[in-house]
Amino acid sequence: MPRRLKLLLIFGTRPEAIKMCPLALELLRRPQFETKVMLTGQHRELADSVMSAFGVKADYDLRLMKPGQTLQSLTAAILEAEKPVFEQFAPDFALVHGDTLTAFASALSAFYAQTKVCHVEAGLRTFDKWAPYPEEMNRVLITRLADLHFAPTKGNERNLRNEGIINGVYVTGNTGLDAFRYTIKPDYEFTSPELRAIDFESFRTVVMTAHRRENIGAGLENICRAVRRVVAENPDIQVVYPMHPNPTVRGTVVPMLGDIDRVHLIEPLDVFDMHNLMSRSYMALTDSGGLQEEAPALGLPVAVLRAETERPEAVEAGTVVLAGTTDEGVYSLFSKILRDAEFYRSMRRAINPYGDGHASERIADILLGQEIM
Ligand code: UD1
Ligand code: UDP
Repeated sequence: MPRRLKLLLIFGTRPEAIKMCPLALELLRRPQFETKVMLTGQHRELADSVMSAFGVKADYDLRLMKPGQTLQSLTAAILEAEKPVFEQFAPDFALVHGDTLTAFASALSAFYAQTKVCHVEAGLRTFDKWAPYPEEMNRVLITRLADLHFAPTKGNERNLRNEGIINGVYVTGNTGLDAFRYTIKPDYEFTSPELRAIDFESFRTVVMTAHRRENIGAGLENICRAVRRVVAENPDIQVVYPMHPNPTVRGTVVPMLGDIDRVHLIEPLDVFDMHNLMSRSYMALTDSGGLQEEAPALGLPVAVLRAETERPEAVEAGTVVLAGTTDEGVYSLFSKILRDAEFYRSMRRAINPYGDGHASERIADILLGQEIM
């Protein structure tokens, strides 16, 4: 009997965990694979919350998060800490996700261990090395290291082909949309005490997240100023902003928005609360990549707090609009979505450009067809 294909899924941050847990569950269900999960620990509470929500256990947990960690120190720590795991488990494939530091450093670790790399969520590009920083370069470098590329959309596949990547490219959809099959429930009751205390009947609810490295500083200050102004001018709205734990994010947001009654600055939500909050909100204001994929599937209009995006499909469909990060840009788009009913209606359409909720099964089927070296 041939031995089972050995798979090592590696992730470390919240968005990777949300998109890799459905895949981990699918692979663990299949007896043809020996599947193990390794957490770098780049994020501690944020990733742990996702793991317990999905009931996925880490076989290896490198526990690397440090307050104020730098790109350099974390990359070096990941390379050092992963080496013995590759030696001990000797996987046939390492699976990494997206564009985080964990994903890039782990793909490099796998390459140094002469292990093949699968890139889940491959082929996203802004074509600007500095935005998002360092994620755009991370994904370009992972592409060079990867043997199999699981592209969410045909556009992502096209980006890879334009870079000369022809072999091993598959369009699978984004595993992030698979997560909805676990999280969204019509009769769902929030678990966060902060969410339970919010009055969702009397206001239009705007769900907001903002934490990107390149926005921290002037961009985030502009965003907060614009939100202050729009909230003051629209008494029928409230903003619910689960804040990233990064102290540099909170250091800007709390002093600038913390004193407004209709802005709820709350702790990060578990993924069940977050997805169900989105499904009940009026619109989203975000610099997150994941929200740009999830919101269109829920018919939730999004103003993106960035000047560019690697996810153009929902922009082309009209459900996502780029606000940029200037005071004026954010103020005018946010106000327009709230006040122009026709514009709002044109954005409020449920579309699924990023996946149909079955990407994990497709990836598992493709892996089944791979030969053991
Ligand atoms: C990382 C990713 C970014 C992703 C974001 C999602 C990189 C380069 N960036 O950025 O692509 O959008 O995650 O959230 O990989 N912290 C905690 N607890 C946690 C998580 C973070 O306290 O559970 C704090 C720590 O002080 C940490 C800081 O946040 O040092 C920053 O975390 P880090 O992973 O370095 O950067 P992110 O901005 O989260
Ligand atoms: N999310 C969550 N709780 C929160 C905020 C976000 O579960 O309090 C989810 C969100 O629905 C999406 C993912 O986290 O699935 C996005 O992660 P994040 O914003 O950390 O990273 P990004 O998408 O910017 O890379």
